[in-house]
Amino acid sequence: MKKIINVGSFIIDFACYANSLPIAGETTLGLRSKLGAGGKGSNQATASHRSGGDVRMIGKIGTDSLAKIITDHYEQEGMSQEYIKISQTNDTGVALIEIDTKSGQNRIIVVKGANADLTIEDVQSAEKDFQDCEIVMTQLETSAESILECKKLAQKYHRTFLMNPAPFQDIPQGLFDGIDYLTPNETETEFFTGIPVNDQSSARKASEKLLSMGVKKVVLTLGEHGVYYFDGSMELLVPPPKVTAVDTTGAGDALNGGLAVALAEQMPIEVALKFANCVGALSVTKAGSSPAMPFRSETEKLLYDFYQVKL
Ligand code: RIB
Repeated sequence: MKKIINVGSFIIDFACYANSLPIAGETTLGLRSKLGAGGKGSNQATASHRSGGDVRMIGKIGTDSLAKIITDHYEQEGMSQEYIKISQTNDTGVALIEIDTKSGQNRIIVVKGANADLTIEDVQSAEKDFQDCEIVMTQLETSAESILECKKLAQKYHRTFLMNPAPFQDIPQGLFDGIDYLTPNETETEFFTGIPVNDQSSARKASEKLLSMGVKKVVLTLGEHGVYYFDGSMELLVPPPKVTAVDTTGAGDALNGGLAVALAEQMPIEVALKFANCVGALSVTKAGSSPAMPFRSETEKLLYDFYQVKL
């Protein structure tokens, strides 16, 4: 098992499913709801864990009752809770999620809460694990100082550093410089480059712009179109397996968590992208975010059935 460090968010997802989503000022009757563990960081950590990684998640929850949903999830999964920190000033982060049952698509409002309190010292408390891990990963759902410290420690110990720049927002100057893998989706790519991505040639143009900002390898996640990879010389477009989407919440997180494991296991890049696509695809076939992450056996089966790749 390869060790993966994830400096990221813990969020409680409150999802409501409806046949159509309300417009401003409207109330719509929903079909059902689901309260569960989420957060981009923790979803990715769960996906990595279920994909066969040995995960250390560094993040922050509050002292409120919702926090127990997170710790119960880690308990049930058998995931390390060593670096789950507790904020005395902010409640556990929450996300309000509306899901259109016809398309499986969602709209999310996320409030960072305790995630915004993650400090440099919190990240440094895990320094011993940075020294012997395979991959360090993070997103943009915690404090800027925790993200910068995460990058600093990853580079200090020459660890492969993967950043999922979500949710998009203004970032400290130079943040992308030296990142090994940057994994934006289409909207994030447009936000950071100004280039809308709608085909392979625009994906390449946007990736070239990201490389010019110091990123070494770009993995654009393109939803139903799969993933696009560019490292300055090799270019790949890998379509995903076709599945019926029940809930797309956390699909990008699933893909990132799976990709981290594939890279940690040193799979060739094309196989790693296929593996990640399978984790992402399987996650949308179930409701919820962290609880919907697939297990390694399911991923390996789909990898073989769809791509004829045997690990
Ligand atoms: O990427 C999906 C996640 O974004 C949800 O689980 C929600 O918590 C938000 O952070």
